[in-house]
Amino acid sequence: MKRNNLFFIIISFVSLSFINACKDVPHLTKKEVTKIGFIADSALIVSARKEASKIGIAILKKGGNAFDAMIATDLALAVSYPFAGNIGGGGFMVYRTADGKTGALDYREKAPLAATENMYLDADGSIIKNKSTLGALAVGVPGTLAGLFAVHEKYGSLSFSTLIQPAIDLAKKGVVITAKQAKRFQYFRKSFQKINKRSIFLDKNWKAGDTIKYFALAKTLERIRDEGRDAFYGGQIGQEMVDYLQKLGGIISIEDLKKYKAKWRDPIQFNYKDLTITSMTLPSSGGICMAQILKSIEPYDIKQYPHNSEKYIQLLTEAERRAYADRAHYLGDIDFVDVPIDSLTNRAYLKKRMSDFSWQEAGKSALISHGKITGYESEETTHYSIVDQYGNAVAVTTTLNGAYGSKVYVDNGGYFLNNEMDDFSAKPGSPNMFGLIGAKANAIAPEKRMLSSMSPTIVEQDGKLKMVLGSPGGATIITAVLQNILNVYEYDMRMQESVSQARFHHQWLPDLIKMEPDGFDSISLHKLTVKGYKIEEGNSVIIGKVDAILVLPNGQLEGGADPRGDDTAIGF
Ligand code: DON
Repeated sequence: MKRNNLFFIIISFVSLSFINACKDVPHLTKKEVTKIGFIADSALIVSARKEASKIGIAILKKGGNAFDAMIATDLALAVSYPFAGNIGGGGFMVYRTADGKTGALDYREKAPLAATENMYLDADGSIIKNKSTLGALAVGVPGTLAGLFAVHEKYGSLSFSTLIQPAIDLAKKGVVITAKQAKRFQYFRKSFQKINKRSIFLDKNWKAGDTIKYFALAKTLERIRDEGRDAFYGGQIGQEMVDYLQKLGGIISIEDLKKYKAKWRDPIQFNYKDLTITSMTLPSSGGICMAQILKSIEPYDIKQYPHNSEKYIQLLTEAERRAYADRAHYLGDIDFVDVPIDSLTNRAYLKKRMSDFSWQEAGKSALISHGKITGYESEETTHYSIVDQYGNAVAVTTTLNGAYGSKVYVDNGGYFLNNEMDDFSAKPGSPNMFGLIGAKANAIAPEKRMLSSMSPTIVEQDGKLKMVLGSPGGATIITAVLQNILNVYEYDMRMQESVSQARFHHQWLPDLIKMEPDGFDSISLHKLTVKGYKIEEGNSVIIGKVDAILVLPNGQLEGGADPRGDDTAIGF
């Protein structure tokens, strides 16, 4: 059997993970690659859980718009997908309104006021294991609720209580545990126990088919419904969270919560051939890296290289290597550091960056560091995509960072807190949990936002909406998203066919191509190895989990729900 045919059979059985940081669970059913996804005439939502897509669609059917649906879907994910859906984390939204205006919202977590540059180092300057990933000190000031209220204030058309109520009802009615979820609860049980005396996830050995009712979370959401944003950012819910964190040795204060604000930002927008791509700007590296990689490969006639073949993999790998080297050096929170975005995404600069690339042999990350910029002009997660019946499009990626974040579970409030602090560079040159290296630009400072890779993205062609997409997967988000743009644009794939393809990833350091196991043909892999590329297919890695929407030529919408998870497209 051909290896790429084997991909979906293997992916159905083996234990999968988004690299070590985001362990996922076995796919228990054997799935054929479905080429065509759910088709809707006017509105579509693709998210990590059926319950969440359904709730968002019900809001659209009530006459709500994509922004209303975003708020309802996000809160429904906080209930039904505690792995990554959250009120204790943060995220980014990229949108395009029906009249073609684009924009972005940053509700990324921030370092607490009491954070210091060396807070994860011991007296010898070495990183203290787990300090930035597990427990109270790993937590960044959460931004999710601030983000949802900011969206509502600017674009909401239904009342906030209408949008939050379905999540409250779902929490009370309970959510049926899927097989994948049951495995995850089992896998993380020990780390939940290590941090928390009690949590709903420890109440019993949850099995697939059981229903969990989230009464504490329902109460929290009711309070937010009744008292608004301030219930969290200064009020009782926030105070209880701060008290719990401080008991566990954390440093977030009520002052941190009172000062937190979500920020509207101009997204990164660039052209790839005749596509216009809009993606997240700093503090996410997503849009800048994607622009660098796609512009670097633009001069090549990609179509002549068969999909996922040796030359295609090589070209993308070399562009990725260079972009991630720049990421490590230059990128950080734009509110704190100058980042030469225009220079880094300039075509002449990128052409020069690619000039030492050779088809004959693998580049060496040890020899390819960040590029030289001449002068500065004045970087566990879930993604969902929405297109409403009015033509508005919303792409949102939200996260706790690792699976269930810091594992700190505010029992009284019924929610997990993030471990986003690990996205900072705790020490220059030392990898974080995604193996990403950082430098001064991404050093910790009070109130600074940690660099992200989350890349909610919108693609237009001929001035019209073409795709809405994004992914979880830490460092691999950027490469997962851009491979899907290329699948559709260069290889004429349908949306579902595209999200189901095997993916690969290179991030400069470590100097290897990470590949989903058994998704690539052995001849291409052999040729790459002969050229000197190191390939890692081990550890049952999966690269991203892409939920996307494609606008078909007749105006219908096709959902791409990634078969790597329980992801579901629903529409009308
Ligand atoms: O912001 C980031 O880039 C990371 N905190 C995202 C984490 C993630 O995607 C984990 N999921 N697999």
